[in-house]
Amino acid sequence: MTESILKLKDGKFYIENLLVENIAKEFGTPSYIYSKKIILDNYLDFKNQFNDISHLICFAVKANPNIAILNLLAKNGAGFDIVSSGELRRVIAAEGDPKKVVFSGVGKSKEDIELAIKHDILTFNVESEAELHRIQSIAKKLSKVASISIRVNPDVDPKTHPYISTGLKDNKFGVDEQNAISMYKIAKDLDSIKIKGIDCHIGSQITELHPFEDSIKKLLTLLDHLNSIGISIEHIDIGGGIGIQYSDEMPPTFADYAKTVKNILKGRDLKIIFEPGRALIGKAGLLLAEVEYIKNNLEKNFIIINAAMNDLMRPALYGAFHEIINLSPTNSEKKYYDIVGPVCETGDFLGKDRLISAEEGNILAILDAGAYGMSMSSNYNSRPKASEILVDDNKLHLIRCREDFAELINGEQLLP
Ligand code: LLP
Repeated sequence: MTESILKLKDGKFYIENLLVENIAKEFGTPSYIYSKKIILDNYLDFKNQFNDISHLICFAVKANPNIAILNLLAKNGAGFDIVSSGELRRVIAAEGDPKKVVFSGVGKSKEDIELAIKHDILTFNVESEAELHRIQSIAKKLSKVASISIRVNPDVDPKTHPYISTGLKDNKFGVDEQNAISMYKIAKDLDSIKIKGIDCHIGSQITELHPFEDSIKKLLTLLDHLNSIGISIEHIDIGGGIGIQYSDEMPPTFADYAKTVKNILKGRDLKIIFEPGRALIGKAGLLLAEVEYIKNNLEKNFIIINAAMNDLMRPALYGAFHEIINLSPTNSEKKYYDIVGPVCETGDFLGKDRLISAEEGNILAILDAGAYGMSMSSNYNSRPKASEILVDDNKLHLIRCREDFAELINGEQLLP
């Protein structure tokens, strides 16, 4: 189980060996703060579960694409799961190895595909027959051979929020088994395509093991059939999706997950690829914000903070829960508050009905925001993006500067 990023010592909160109040003072708020130790511990814990079998961990860049974080993982041997050429460029900027990159996504553009082929990525996770033909024609034009896997949609219910379930037959992702077989047959005869693997990713924030079990079994049945018709597969990519605890969920430990996966794959000569995002980075980051105002309306009490839905979109988009803690000393009384941002939408809340005490100027921490926090942030309401800071023991590293106004309007022009 991942340790908590906040440590309470003598009534004060620390991240690793630094006082959080001081981080807020030095870099201001809103800021995303990450613990290097927790990121590495998570990654190595995951990796160590699979030391005895051939595998590659491809961190899902979309969960947190900061190049300092990608670099940290790359230095420790990680590959990457990408969904755009922008993410590929980030991996390269972070000194990651393109040969350890898997490229997922239903809408790969010609530019995306061309860049990935030029960098000899490990495999395209192909999501339609049309995409397969597009990859063939671009590879041919470049006189290259592109490696592919077919992303199979196993029609398994991951029991998660409908917006982040991807392996049900009415989702846009992957292709059904019959379609996959016919695509492998076509791919076999394409001269600029090499068949490498088979792939699935059934969803995110999955807290039970059996959806993983069901989908891997379905992929293996398909793989056996492919073998029987002379199509051999080197690797199986079982995607990401392992959940974390935001409130009272009980996600599987990496050890439980590994036991299940290894049990199903026992005796097979297959390399296994994983695409975890949230499980590696989610609990390693928090969002720091400052209380602007306390407001008591007739029906509701509000804590208005200087972070908003543009900084952390998950509560507004999915109704997601993030624990919120007041890190500052206060004598004010505990009350039920909605914790909201300055954005002009009622959907702009970070937490609802939280029993907490706070006063103007206090620093709040919104926990478990390392995954899909900064990566989904926007400039809505012309709010500059937050800064990002990585804590390494007693050292602070600014890994992304707070945006300024010039950056905010960069590229915009007045009419002549
Ligand atoms: N592989 C593929 C192809 C994916 O689409 C995703 C996530 C992952 C791997 C990593 O999944 P993870 O291990 O992080 O669950 N914005 C949402 C999550 C969207 C996930 C999209 N795909 C959220 O904030 O909950």
